[in-house]
This record gives sequence, C-alpha cells and structure tokens, in this order.
Amino acid sequence: MAVEPFDAVDIIRTKRDAGVLSTEQIDWLIDAYTRGYVADSQMSAFTMAVYLNGMERREIRDLTLAMIASGERLNFDTLSKRTTDKHSTGGVGDKITLPLAPLVASFGVAVPQLSGRGLGHTGGTLDKLESIPGWRADLTNDEFFAQLEDVGAVVCAAGTGLAPADKKLYALRDVTATVECIPLIASSIMSKKIAEGTASLVLDVKFGGGAFLKDLGYARELARTMTELGDDAGVKTTAFLTNMNVPLGLAIGNANEVRESVEVLAGGGPADVVELTLVLAREMLDQAGVIDADVEGALKNGKAMDTWRRMISAQGGDPDAALPTAKETHVVTAPRSGVLTRQDALPFGVAAWRLGAGRARPQDPVQHAAGIDLHAKPGDEVTEGQPLFTLSADEPERFERALEALEGSWAVGPRDELVDYGPLIATRID
Ligand code: URA
Repeated sequence: MAVEPFDAVDIIRTKRDAGVLSTEQIDWLIDAYTRGYVADSQMSAFTMAVYLNGMERREIRDLTLAMIASGERLNFDTLSKRTTDKHSTGGVGDKITLPLAPLVASFGVAVPQLSGRGLGHTGGTLDKLESIPGWRADLTNDEFFAQLEDVGAVVCAAGTGLAPADKKLYALRDVTATVECIPLIASSIMSKKIAEGTASLVLDVKFGGGAFLKDLGYARELARTMTELGDDAGVKTTAFLTNMNVPLGLAIGNANEVRESVEVLAGGGPADVVELTLVLAREMLDQAGVIDADVEGALKNGKAMDTWRRMISAQGGDPDAALPTAKETHVVTAPRSGVLTRQDALPFGVAAWRLGAGRARPQDPVQHAAGIDLHAKPGDEVTEGQPLFTLSADEPERFERALEALEGSWAVGPRDELVDYGPLIATRID
C-alpha cells in the first residue's frame, strides 16, 4: 500500500488552531477525500475548522485549484466563438439566465451555462426550463459543443465529471452547517465555473432577505474573493451586488418564470427583470470583446427571441407549446385601498416552495405549474378588492401552509409606510 504523505488529523489540527495550510497539504486533502481515503467525519471537522477560522487568499486559491483538478476541465479552444458565462448566487424569482443566455448569444458569443436544480426556496434554472414540453437538460459533450457552435447558447445540466470533489464536499457541508462560509462558497462556485472552461464570467451576487447571504458586506467579501479567484485562474471575472429584498419580477415558480422570460425576450416584461438582464448582458458582451452592443434593441426586434427558440428546439423543447397551468388557484386581494408598502422576498420564496415549485430533498420532483404570480410591486397604488397575488398549486391542501408563510410579509397602507428596499444594483466589482 502506498504511503500517504500527510495525515488528515494533522491538517485538521492546524486549521482548528487557526494555522495556515501548505499547497501540498490542501492538494493532498482534496485528492484523498475524493478517492475516499479521508473520511466524511474528518472532512466535516475540517470544514467546521475553516468555517470558524477562515483561510488566506492563497489557501482559497489552492482549494479551488485542487477541486478543479479532481475532475475534467472543459476547453473551448476549438470553438470559433468567444465564451462568456454568468453565475447567480440565487434568489426569489431569479430567472435572469433564461432571457440573458440567448440575448448574449444572439451577438455571436458562446454562453455555456451549466446549471443546477433548485433546493430550498430559490429555484433551479433546469427546473424552470423543464416545464417546456420536450426540453431535456442532459446533453452529451458532443451535443453541448455542437449547440455552442451553432446556436451559441446552451443551458444544460453540469455533468458529474466537473469538480467531483466539490459535489462531495457540498453535500457534506449541507448537513454539517458549514455552507455559509466565504472560503468554502467561493471555492465551490469558482471551481465549477473555472472547470467549465469559460473565458470570462459575470457574477450576480445577491444580498438581502431573499438571498443566501443577507448582509451586503458579507456579499461584497464573497464577490471580491470570487473575482480574485477567477482572475488568478485567467478567467476575466466581474461581479454585481444585486438586491434580493423583494422578489425579482412578477413570477415565482417554474412555468410562470419561463412565461415571464419569454415576455422579456418579446420586448416587454417587468422593469427590474429587464434592467438586470440588460446590465449583465452588456457586461458579458464587453468581456467577450463585443463593444456597444444594442442589447435593448435585440430584445425589441426579435433577435434574442430567435436565439431563444433555436436554443429550446436544439434541446428537444417546443418553444410554441403551451406551458403547464395549475389545477387550483387562490387569489389574495387588497384589504383596503392604498399603496403596497411591503413585499418581502424570502416569505414569497418559501410560499412558492410550499406550493410545490421547489423541492425539500434532492430526489423530489417539482410541480412545474406551482408558484406565485404577483400583480403589484411595492410602491404601486392598489384599490380595495384588487388582486395582489395569485397562488397556484396542483393540490389545494398546499394553500394553507403557503399563506401561513406569507403572514406579515406584505401590507397595504399609506405611502409614508412604504419600506425602502434600496436600489436593484448596489455595486460593480472587478
Ligand atoms: N452554491 C455552490 O455551488 N456552492 C456553495 O458553496 C454555495 C452555493
């Protein structure tokens, strides 16, 4: 039996005592964990030590590179187009990838968007697209490359070959209360994005009540750490800190978010979804060397919609098929006339999840037609009896628990009680 060069217990002890690990120690730990030599119990202790004592920039870079090295790394050198990608840390009603990928690709750039399924109150991009009849998330490597060359935009499931160490580690962190830790989040996200092989990357780091990181300062630190990791790995990376205190757009769910995205691609849609799509598209195109692109025009004149239709068809979907609708709906109306003064993102995300739009366990199915459609945004004038939002579900028993989640999360009152949720985009970081 080969002699191992390090001992997991020593490495754990060093981090427990707030010491600094060498590159060789980190490389070995991740490799030994991936091949099953280091046990889950030891890795749990290690991640908790990192959670409590942090890591230096060099250690975070080593951790990221070690996780990339645990699997395959895609290479787009043979592609005739430049690549650019976007990653969002996730939020309520965040469907931006859907209009963004075809919009950017419509300018001749390749967008290899390897996505995931949702767990918890933020939905997964694949779950949303799977509400389109026939659409499939799983592509072979050949199909993936061919679609990138031909259509430019691909949103598909990340294969198991990319950063398998992260997959194992993330599942462990999920059950050991060590997810919310900047070195671990940053290395997890960036190992997958760098392994995916994109030449440039735009990060949408959400902060606020409906985001994974509530605090703006913490989100800023995560954004900085990730942009540094990207730049260190030769992937041009910029980040936007964006507001997730209120749901993004008017649709929260799966099929209804696809519907809203198609509205944006048809030149309409809610102002906040359009604004964020345009800002991220300009940044991605800029990084790919397409300067002064008329992104607004591409939404208005059908150019982005054409790419969307080709992107959906290439993956077996019918862009003209009717999207599923729920068996049951429940409408909540304004109890009085006034202004919608409050609409907190997190409870709306939780309510949509309880309606069946999300899953509690990775193996659970989602109900594509379940979700919430908002009929007003904070600051809008409403009159007594006017619908404020509609809950949709396949099983009416789900309404009670969804309504419970929404208690105290919205209000109608005088304008001076309007909650100040802050601007949509806080900062750009590069
Ligand atoms: N998403 C990831 O991929 N990794 C994390 O650690 C957190 C969010």
